[in-house]
Amino acid sequence: MAVTISKLGDTRRTHYCGTLRREDEGQRVTVCGWVQRQRDLGQLIFVDLRDRTGIVQLAFDEQTDREIFDTAFAVRSEYVLAASGILRVRSSINKDIPTGEVEIAVDELKVLAVSETPPFEIQENSPVKEDLRLQYRYLDLRRPDMQSAILTRHKIVKVAHDYYDQNGFIEVETPIMVKSTPEGARDYLVPSRIKKGSFFALPQSPQLYKQLLMLSGFDRYMQIARCFRDEDLRADRQPEFTQIDLEMSFVDEGDIRAVNEGFMKRLFKEILDVDVPTPFVCMPYKEAMERYGSDKPDTRFGLELQDMSDLLTKCEFKVFAGALAGGGSVRGIKVPAAADKLTRKVIDKLTEFVRDYGAKGLAFTRMTADGAASSFEKFLTEDEVAAVRDRFALTEGDVLLVVADADNSTVFASLGALRCEVAKRLGLIDPTKFNFLWVVDFPLFEYSKEEGRYMAMHHPFTAPKDEHADLIESDPGRVLAKAYDMVLNGCEVGGGSIRINNPELQQRMFKALGFTPEDAQERFGFLIDAFRFGAPPHGGMAYGLDRLVMLMLGRDSIRDVMAFPKVATSSELMSGAPAEVDDAQLRDLSIAIVNEQ
Ligand code: AMO
Ligand code: AMP
Repeated sequence: MAVTISKLGDTRRTHYCGTLRREDEGQRVTVCGWVQRQRDLGQLIFVDLRDRTGIVQLAFDEQTDREIFDTAFAVRSEYVLAASGILRVRSSINKDIPTGEVEIAVDELKVLAVSETPPFEIQENSPVKEDLRLQYRYLDLRRPDMQSAILTRHKIVKVAHDYYDQNGFIEVETPIMVKSTPEGARDYLVPSRIKKGSFFALPQSPQLYKQLLMLSGFDRYMQIARCFRDEDLRADRQPEFTQIDLEMSFVDEGDIRAVNEGFMKRLFKEILDVDVPTPFVCMPYKEAMERYGSDKPDTRFGLELQDMSDLLTKCEFKVFAGALAGGGSVRGIKVPAAADKLTRKVIDKLTEFVRDYGAKGLAFTRMTADGAASSFEKFLTEDEVAAVRDRFALTEGDVLLVVADADNSTVFASLGALRCEVAKRLGLIDPTKFNFLWVVDFPLFEYSKEEGRYMAMHHPFTAPKDEHADLIESDPGRVLAKAYDMVLNGCEVGGGSIRINNPELQQRMFKALGFTPEDAQERFGFLIDAFRFGAPPHGGMAYGLDRLVMLMLGRDSIRDVMAFPKVATSSELMSGAPAEVDDAQLRDLSIAIVNEQ
């Protein structure tokens, strides 16, 4: 039977579907939404109607007007309805949903739109391939888990606006078409039509503008800022993402940490009713690397790294000796009482795992009931074996996993990832925990082998520690920065620094980064010039909003907390962006496409 499509007319919603309760019994209500499902029991038809708040049951029976009953018979999943009637208590209660005690005895029904059969069922945790979900994102977003993610995201942004406003921050919009100043990720470029051959860049962050706003005297700035970075995608990275971006004048690192700990406290209380203890632990970068092999350690579990290099200085095992001779180290992780779970076979898998992080192998000792089974003890002297076992206090049941490499960063990267992998496999991570910490005392520079020069670890505007400023030219590798990252459960949710506000120091910084004065002037001239006109001491930070929402909701990917994300090839599956453009558009821009082989 064909249904008649009605206009909304005077029909107005009185209630959202998911809000109706037993207390509303006897009221006349009107709801609007999508058909979740229709059940036809002959004399009785039930329609579950869904809106963003949930589902309510519409009931049609012998008392229902025939025409309405026939319409109810004809509706299908995802039809859009407006239904009015008296709210009554159900004869059979459904304890699984909040509206499960009531139903609407419908006496007015409008079909506002029909729907084709959707390509997948609109339901929580639907087992559908992500590509299909993203192609029909507008349908995917109807699912309750996506609805709740997007609503929670909205609430987080609302709390951010409220909190920072109450702390004297004002929101200022900064431009989206900016000058390209590549340092960090690759820029997205926008060609200029008027100035042929010239390009705008999309901002990687509002960094320079927010610093200039401090110079202009706005004192405290915040912005929900869209950022663009042409880099490889991962579960926690998108080419287009959002920051909660902040900057403050006349402050030091401690002031910035305190304001932001206050934000986390308020956010977690309001959104999740979780009490976040403050102040957070401040862990120096060096300690984070040595204990956790990572500058964003997950501190919800132990499995800390320990150095064993000093015990092996005379060791003849070529793997260890080679690593030490090359200036590297030998480090291990003790996994307590895990010998039965970390079998040879599992360790083989873990060996493959660490190879992805550059390790050449994974040595182990399993302290089984029948004695130690080890891949390396046979190459060590008795004293060395005893010293190693003693260092890790190995007892029966324990497993020791060891990586040696001439490059310490390989040892840290592989063991850092391994401890998380082992914790995951052994179920050592409590998903209800939220462990915050600040990682502080970052190096100001990191040496890039590819570029053959020092690069800014954070960005070129980050101030060195006062006591290290003299080392910028003589010993850049030793200079520590006034930079800090906020880390939550092994993820960097935010980062920032105190900035350089002295033009001479800024020039020295550019020089150390390998810019000639002309280069620096060409790229950052407006900033250097501005800083000659009274720059207050200032600093700030930015949160990755998407990551924050992901962690608060316990989702695995930031794609699940963004309305319209991109996939690994940086394309958007629904619209098909990026796409080719007309020749005329290209001609306007004087752009010719060169087909590369
Ligand atoms: P940074 O580059 O560390 O600092 O970025 C701040 C935070 O933004 C998030 N983030 C991302 N989220 C999703 N996808 C990405 N591709 C992505 N890249 C970064 C991270 C990160 O901690 N202007 C400075 C901040 C400052 O110094 O004030 C900046 O952008 O959670
Ligand atoms: P091999 O002598 O190469 O057979 O290695 C003996 C043991 O050391 C094996 O368990 C290897 O997996 C392990 N191994 C090899 N290279 C490394 C390394 N760089 N770090 C830790 N263990 C390694």
